[in-house]
Amino acid sequence: MSSCFTPMTSMLLLVLSSLCFLALCLILRRLSKAFLARPRELPLPPGSMGWPYIGETMQLYSKNPNAFFALKQQRYGAIFKTHILGCPCVMVSSPEAARFVLVTRAHLFKPTFPASKERMLGPQAIFFQQGEYHARLRRLVLRAFMPDAIRGSVAGIEAVALRALRSWDGRSVNTFQEMKTYAFNVALLSIFGKDEISYIEELKQCYYTLEKGYNSMPINLPGTLFYKAMKARKQLAQIVAKIVSSRRTTQSKAVPSDLLASFMESKEALTDDQIADNIIGVIFAARDTTASVLTWILKYLVENPNILLAVTEEQEQIIKSKEREDEPLTWADTKRMPLTSRVIQETMRVASILSFTFREAVEDVEYEGYLIPKGWKVLPLFRNIHHSPDNYADPEIFDPSRFEVATKPNTFMPFGNGSHSCPGNELAKLEMLVLLHHLTTKYRWSKLESQSGIQFGPFALPLNGLPLRFSLQSTPEKSRS
Ligand code: HEM
Repeated sequence: MSSCFTPMTSMLLLVLSSLCFLALCLILRRLSKAFLARPRELPLPPGSMGWPYIGETMQLYSKNPNAFFALKQQRYGAIFKTHILGCPCVMVSSPEAARFVLVTRAHLFKPTFPASKERMLGPQAIFFQQGEYHARLRRLVLRAFMPDAIRGSVAGIEAVALRALRSWDGRSVNTFQEMKTYAFNVALLSIFGKDEISYIEELKQCYYTLEKGYNSMPINLPGTLFYKAMKARKQLAQIVAKIVSSRRTTQSKAVPSDLLASFMESKEALTDDQIADNIIGVIFAARDTTASVLTWILKYLVENPNILLAVTEEQEQIIKSKEREDEPLTWADTKRMPLTSRVIQETMRVASILSFTFREAVEDVEYEGYLIPKGWKVLPLFRNIHHSPDNYADPEIFDPSRFEVATKPNTFMPFGNGSHSCPGNELAKLEMLVLLHHLTTKYRWSKLESQSGIQFGPFALPLNGLPLRFSLQSTPEKSRS
């Protein structure tokens, strides 16, 4: 047999086998890169996945979700896996892990929402975006909501606050519902300015129908809440388009500083559809959040008379510092409210109305020796961070004085963190301060229900929206007697 191999064939065989060997080495290298060195080798975080498909959804929703998160953290530590609403999830509850997901490795985790929510708010809204379009939207939104842009709106917000308070006088009200109306009016003012009054009622009615569908089953058949909401969504877009077109034709010399003006500004102007999606989105982001925090503030103040007294004194000082008692509030006044600001901070910490946010891993990610697989949801648990004794001494106690000193880095995130953090935070703080100024110096309020508790809709809320009775006091002194 060996005689069959001429020197030529031997050489050919040698070259071929060398080539095969080389190819094999290359394939093995590729395979080892693709599989052996992949973080898939790493273990998943500890935790339990519950039943097939439903996972642990029942456990999460059958009790207070915060109790679920706290229990899991106690059992498994600061990073654990679970399975909710059909999705495998990794939950993280250390400041470092939240920063990893939201800031330092934010490009590995994209925002994620149920498809039905995206359809309702509008697919081009800021929340769902990443990259250049997201950066452009943020520039436009921040231009309208940064301190320099909103300092001129104090008088407008004050008028909205005074109107709200007058309407509560002598009445028993559902505080959350009333705060929703207040926050809605402030949001509309900051979006449209004072010009578009003629369309506002129609817009509000459509928005009320839309919000009823937010948490409905996404069944788009006539008669369902979802169907009605989608119809209202279309009408809302038409109303916004009418407002945009009337602005385009009005040759006003003064350039408005509201959000719509920012969206229409020629250099980076958005299309009509993009404007509608983002205006509906901002109303959604601005209203129930601010209303929920304000409701908690009133609850904590009524339950802590000493703190209420101190806040009232701080606000009375501002009135006393003016030449006339009825002089309007100014931007500078709102910077002289340190205690009231700490009450807002502490309320946001204790109430943590957004217990967590959602992201999705866009590739396999390694964190602290664990694998977060591509496609899994990742939830930074703000509430756990705000309630950890490692970050706050006696975390369950309402104590605004803890904010007299700076908090540890990444332990206070009521407005989120990183590129999707809240661009409306300055406006939210301003509208809360303005309302609290007039509320504490002119009104008293008392609880109508003795039981306290928490409900979720979806933001954390005092039980039954905190029914309260409000009454005007004739002088500040009278309230303290
Ligand atoms: C106290 C009231 C508020 C709270 C607690 C709050 C909280 C938050 C949080 C935690 C996020 C980040 C969510 C995430 O990372 O997934 C966020 C985003 C956002 N908030 Fe707020 N917010 C409040 C009021 C407002 C107001 C008044 C506005 C507008 C006027 C607003 C507009 C937005 C927008 C547009 C986003 C999305 C930003 C983006 O995706 O880039 N928020 N908010």
